[in-house]
Amino acid sequence: MGGTKEILCSAPADLFPSKSLLCNNFVHQQQNSLSPFTSTFNTCKRRAVQLRKVMAVAPAVPMQTLIELDSTKVTPEIPVQFTVTAQVTVKYDAKEKMKEMVFHLLDSGAKATQRGVFLQLVSTDVDPRTGGPKLSKEAVLDWSRDLHITADKVSHEVQFLVDANLGVPGAILVSNKNQKEFYLESITIEGLVHFKCHSWVQPEKLHPGKRIFFSNKAFLPSETPAGLKVLRKEELRQLRGNGEGVRAVSDRIYDYDVYNDLGHPDKGTEHARPILGGQHRPYPRRCRTGRPSTKSDPKAEGPVNESLPMYVPRDEAFGDLKRQAVDAGSWKGMVNNFFPFLKDSSTDGGAITFSEINELYKENPSNESQRKESPKKASFPIKLNKMIKESTADAFRFNPPNIVSRDASCCLRDDEFGRLTLAGMNPLSIERLKVFPPVSKLDPSLYGPRESALREEHIIHHLDGMSVQQAMEKNKLFILDYHDTYLPFLNSINAHPDRKAYATRTILFLTQMGTLKPIAIELCLPPANPYIPSKQVITPPIDATTCWQWQLAKAHVCSNDSGAHELIQHWLRTHACMEPFIIAAHRHLSVMHPIHKLLRPHMRYTMDINARARELLISAGGIIESLFSTKEVSMEITSFAYKNWRFDMETLPADLIRRGIAEPDPTEPHGLKLLIEDYPYANDGLLIWSAIETLVRDFVKHYYPSADHIQFDPELNAWYYEFINVGHADIRHESWWPRLSTPEDLVSILTTIIWIVSAEHAALNFGQYHYGGYVPVRPSYMRRLVPNEHDPEYATFLADPEGYFLSSLPSLREMTFLMSVLDILSTHSSDEEYLGDTRDLSTWTEDSEIIEAFYRFSMDMRMVEEEIAKRNADPKLRNRCGAGVSPYDLLVPSSKPGVTCRGVPNSVTI
Ligand SMILES: [Fe+2]
Repeated sequence: MGGTKEILCSAPADLFPSKSLLCNNFVHQQQNSLSPFTSTFNTCKRRAVQLRKVMAVAPAVPMQTLIELDSTKVTPEIPVQFTVTAQVTVKYDAKEKMKEMVFHLLDSGAKATQRGVFLQLVSTDVDPRTGGPKLSKEAVLDWSRDLHITADKVSHEVQFLVDANLGVPGAILVSNKNQKEFYLESITIEGLVHFKCHSWVQPEKLHPGKRIFFSNKAFLPSETPAGLKVLRKEELRQLRGNGEGVRAVSDRIYDYDVYNDLGHPDKGTEHARPILGGQHRPYPRRCRTGRPSTKSDPKAEGPVNESLPMYVPRDEAFGDLKRQAVDAGSWKGMVNNFFPFLKDSSTDGGAITFSEINELYKENPSNESQRKESPKKASFPIKLNKMIKESTADAFRFNPPNIVSRDASCCLRDDEFGRLTLAGMNPLSIERLKVFPPVSKLDPSLYGPRESALREEHIIHHLDGMSVQQAMEKNKLFILDYHDTYLPFLNSINAHPDRKAYATRTILFLTQMGTLKPIAIELCLPPANPYIPSKQVITPPIDATTCWQWQLAKAHVCSNDSGAHELIQHWLRTHACMEPFIIAAHRHLSVMHPIHKLLRPHMRYTMDINARARELLISAGGIIESLFSTKEVSMEITSFAYKNWRFDMETLPADLIRRGIAEPDPTEPHGLKLLIEDYPYANDGLLIWSAIETLVRDFVKHYYPSADHIQFDPELNAWYYEFINVGHADIRHESWWPRLSTPEDLVSILTTIIWIVSAEHAALNFGQYHYGGYVPVRPSYMRRLVPNEHDPEYATFLADPEGYFLSSLPSLREMTFLMSVLDILSTHSSDEEYLGDTRDLSTWTEDSEIIEAFYRFSMDMRMVEEEIAKRNADPKLRNRCGAGVSPYDLLVPSSKPGVTCRGVPNSVTI
């Protein structure tokens, strides 16, 4: 380690007092592991201040002059120089890349002075004669001399020749004269001054100019050392770009655009999609790529292709481990798709059986008996049959999702239906019923009467002897209301022969056991004509016919829930609405800014996964349109929902209060009284919410002791202003946007952001396979409506209700496609970083109080894990413990890689 080496001074110690200061403080560092570097920096800083006392500060010079300043022309005030050693750590994500780079270097024949990486230290002090910061001489890192090809990470030693009066290095300028980019992980000078870089450095021939890396010490803008002020502004200017041109994959420019890249109008009008973003279809902004427009629509951005791959700023791109995880998942999905596709094709997409569905899974206890009953099996040609038998080898089957492995029944039981609204993959839609019958908020001139068809007689028998009014007053009635979400789009959806959907409302009763029981389902269609009722109410079964109708109605509700979960709760709220805060942070918060440092782990990989989503998931003909009921109106539904999105309601307490699930109560642990006491998402979520809030409050208190500190921080205010006014431009005038005036305002804003991208996203994302991977109980779309006695299909339904039910579900091919997608989306890669993970604290080496706060947070996360384990074992908590009941693990902070149905990453990574 460089830090263990003695500094090589070329002058006697009495001529250079800083030598002993540095060395003495390094000893102190070894003795105090929690605050190893603060005192070192402070001592160095004091020395710098003393030096400044005798120097006149000259006016600042332009940045370009500063960067290109030739340090050899600067005459040292004190003619003493010494050598400083730095350890430069370069990471090689893929070993092959390194070999390629090394061979290229060795073969290039370039002279040593024409290749390598050039580094130059920048002092925090200004040189009074130049007006710019004091600089070291350039040092060369030439790794062709220092090869460790098998290592992922290599630490190279570099020696700088510096003037004795350089002061404390606060930045390093880096220029890459090699042919290829490299990943600079960190630089440590004499083991004392740390630079966490974590960035790709492009070759100079592609990106002329020098990269700027700042040391780990956090500075509010007003506290920026004089020598770094110009560099701080220049770095942000580079990151903002000029808003023009096509972005290359090597760029690192953060800018905004509307969603005008989802359609493919050049393929035909049916492939065109409306632009999202603007007054007509409001939407958050996404990262600008600058791709040229399509031929047929100048307002639409052209497609991704080999010469114009999807752009995200270079440092936002997935690392190799993450990319490999996604690719491996894709491969697995393809394999799993192959045989069902063959089988589906062979049956011409016709009816399927439960046994054929169950054959898709490993070790399903019900498979064996049902396979014997399958009438389809015997009709296959022998050769094909043999192939299918081979295909059922475990290697080609899916792991049984929790919902299958714990309950072998094929239809969703009522108690499980209710439980999943509190502890399933979408626990964010359930609301307390405040008005009965429920009333739509849609414009009646466009969507028909607002009144519901639900009446007291539909539910009175399920209220334990209470009237509806009494049950509402006792907070016993809840609703899953998808009426206004779907009704405006049903005509478009139902125009497709293989899509049939309702706008549903489900009334649920809170039993004395603390569980929810569905007691009525309203199925609504747009009014076709005044003589045919467009709304019907289905109630729990009383005979065989109503039993199947009830199952079908529940399947339609699940289909509504599945689409609303994926499009609104998951995509819109946690992916799309959060991208602008990331773009704004990189444009306005210097990497030196403490808020940038705090948010950095919470921005990881989000821009990349969102870009991939635009290309593959939410695009015209993409995965969402193929596998969900909403087809080509999928994204319009999210734009419609965005009109009701409110950042101030995204805090967990506000969300629970808005949905009527909780009431403020200062006597309760989190200041809230839950009206459904056993609500696993809310109970576990509040533990995490409070821990995040505590961490953020400690942090804000440290850097912002007063409101003045907030108000006079131009970077912070520019970040928040742009997040609202550009990132969410279409709703920027809403009066509900929280103000940013006081430290407590900042605590609330930061806690909300970190909560959304970590715990809220995890709760919505990582249960997708385990709760949605058994399609009969959670179909992503339905192909047939619920038949009633006036329908021509009613006789068919009566004759074979199970066949009717199965023929209403997605085809076997699309089921397996969906399962593959959910499997990929539920996967943690091996480089995932979780809440409370302390691996990434190197950025705080200069702030011991902050490191201590993070350690406390880490301990909090461990306590959350223990508490969740305790709750999952408590038989009184019937929504997470009981016979065949899957525990609620989605908010357990840690996880292993893979599909684990637990783990809370720091950021939206998938
Ligand atoms: Fe996600």
